[in-house]
Amino acid sequence: MRLLVTGGCGFIGSNFIRYWLKKYPDHQIVNLDKLTYAGHLSSTFDFSKQKNYRFVKGDICNRKLVNDLIKETDIVVHFAAESHVDRSILDPLVFVKTNVLGTQNLLDAALKHKIKRFHLVSTDEVFGELPLHGGKFTEQTPYNPRSPYAASKAAADHLARAYFYTYGLPVTITNTSNNYGPYQDTEKFIPRMITNLLTGENIKIYGDGKYVRDWLYVEDHVRAIDLVIKSGEEGETYLVGGSDREINNLEIAKIILRIMNLPDSKIQFVKDRPGHDRRYAIDSSKIRKQLNWEPLFSFDDYIAKTIDWYEKNRWWWEPIKKKSEKLYKKTMQI
Ligand SMILES: NC(=O)c1ccc[n+]([C@@H]2O[C@H](COP(=O)([O-])OP(=O)(O)OC[C@H]3O[C@@H](n4cnc5c(N)ncnc54)[C@H](O)[C@@H]3O)[C@@H](O)[C@H]2O)c1
Repeated sequence: MRLLVTGGCGFIGSNFIRYWLKKYPDHQIVNLDKLTYAGHLSSTFDFSKQKNYRFVKGDICNRKLVNDLIKETDIVVHFAAESHVDRSILDPLVFVKTNVLGTQNLLDAALKHKIKRFHLVSTDEVFGELPLHGGKFTEQTPYNPRSPYAASKAAADHLARAYFYTYGLPVTITNTSNNYGPYQDTEKFIPRMITNLLTGENIKIYGDGKYVRDWLYVEDHVRAIDLVIKSGEEGETYLVGGSDREINNLEIAKIILRIMNLPDSKIQFVKDRPGHDRRYAIDSSKIRKQLNWEPLFSFDDYIAKTIDWYEKNRWWWEPIKKKSEKLYKKTMQI
């Protein structure tokens, strides 16, 4: 089997390739990544020399390049995206270019070359926010994106589904909650907290901190994608969430501080993000029942393992953090 993975130098994409090469050593993977600020070759160092792996630096919006690569592909697994909500508030255009036009470019090429499966990796943020108490997102929840990032991902989902209904392209989609784990950029919530503490800084919490997210360990997400590609039904969407309980940002900060033996006084509240969604929660019954998926990694155990990974892999995050902290200070003054 020949896979084209887009965005394989990012957080989830690099974890996906690592998992896939180990599980399917006879498959070929081409990783197409533009190496934006969020793409790091260092995230692929341990598998970059494998014979069945090839890295191509390029943009998913490049028609010729995408056509040439998809010509020799059985399955596309599409991770590449502008993925940070804060950045989408500052510069929405690049989100539309990559997340919408880039996805459409891939879909066109996939159709032309009659690939076996196009898997789109998406987010629960397309559904908007939930009240603090109440139900969860399901596959039937209407789309209601509230940030430019979420709106661009929603557009990509709609396009992918339209290519299934209109042209019969074998599309599947997973909408997942917030992931955490190794190789996540230090500008994201959990790695920023951990690396701030490892460098003697305070933790920054937006608003009152009572924002609830559903946290999924990245390997559980990757396992879900594997199952959907193998056994998911064409044209179907699967929601994938991990939380064994609902935890707000402030509670997460306190859990991290406890594991790192640091006092709560390290928490610093900062001005809230505009349009900050109050709560996301995912009902994963469909993938659990139909594909027998369940999360294997509990938050308490795997947040500790994630902290341990950042403690041991300063070589990976220290150069990345220098850049991301500069951006936070310049643009958001936090
Ligand atoms: N991280 C999460 O918690 C989460 C949750 C749900 C869904 N998702 C989705 O999963 C996917 C991967 O997320 P992530 O956290 O790994 O993102 P990331 O920001 O860590 O990585 C994105 C990767 O895409 C590459 N890229 C960006 N624009 C590109 C372009 N035009 N052409 C080629 N490559 C380009 C970047 O260089 C980077 O390597 C995204 O589609 C995101 O929307 C992420």
